[in-house]
Amino acid sequence: MPKTSIIAIDGPAGSGKSTVAKEVAKRLNFLYIDTGAMYRALTLKALNKKIDFSDTETLVKLSGNTDIELVDEGGSLKVFLDKKDVSEAIRTIEVTKEVKRLSPLKEVRANMVELQRKLARVASSGVVLEGRDIGTVVFPDAPHKFYLDASCETRIKRRFEELKEKGFSISFKEIAEDVKERDASDMTRKIGPLKKAEDATVIDTTDMTVAGVVDGILKIIKSGR
Ligand code: DC
Repeated sequence: MPKTSIIAIDGPAGSGKSTVAKEVAKRLNFLYIDTGAMYRALTLKALNKKIDFSDTETLVKLSGNTDIELVDEGGSLKVFLDKKDVSEAIRTIEVTKEVKRLSPLKEVRANMVELQRKLARVASSGVVLEGRDIGTVVFPDAPHKFYLDASCETRIKRRFEELKEKGFSISFKEIAEDVKERDASDMTRKIGPLKKAEDATVIDTTDMTVAGVVDGILKIIKSGR
C-alpha cells in the first residue's frame, strides 16, 4: 500500500462510520480525520458568538478565520477549537441540530474541504477520513472508498444508545426527528451532498458487528480491490 494512502468513509448519521473509521485507522496506524467534528466545531463557535445563522457573510468569514485541530490522544480523538478542547462540547444536541444551518453554505464547505486536505497532506502515514463528501469532493481520487449505510430504524437506535450512554436525556422521538432532518439536509444540499461515490464499496451495516465491518474493509484494502 502506498505510504500516503487515503481511505474515504462516507455515510449517513448512525451508519457506524465513526466507530469503524477510528478502528480502521488504529489497525493500520493511519491518521484519523473526523470531518463532522470540524463542522460541529464551527457550529459551536457560531453558537458561542451568538451569530445569526441567517447571516451567511459572517458565517463564511468565521469559517475562514477559525483554527480547528484534531489530535489523537492515546486512541481518543480530541478536537481543539481556537486552541480550546471542545471534544465534548461539540457533541451536544444543540450543536447537532444547528450544524445543518451552516453545512450547506458553499464558501463554508470550501474552507472546510481545504482544511481537511491540508490535514491529510501533512500526515506522515496514510489517512482515514470520514464524512459525507470525502469520496466525492474532498478526495475524489482516493484509492479506497467506502459508503456505509444501515436501515433508518437501526441508525436511530444507534444514535439513541450513543447519546444515552453519554448521559443526554433525549427521547427516541426527538432522535428520530433529528436523524431524518439531517438525512434530508445532507442529501439534498447542492454543494457536497451525502452521496455514494460511483467507485465506492457499499456496506450495509444493519446486521453487522463493528469488527465484521472493520475486517471487511481491511480485507478489501489489502486485496487491492
Ligand atoms: O458525522 P457527524 O454526525 O458528526 O457530522 C455532523 C454534521 O456535519 C452532519 O449533520 C453533516 C455535517 N457534515 C458535512 O456536512 N460534511 C462532512 N464531510 C461531515 C459532516
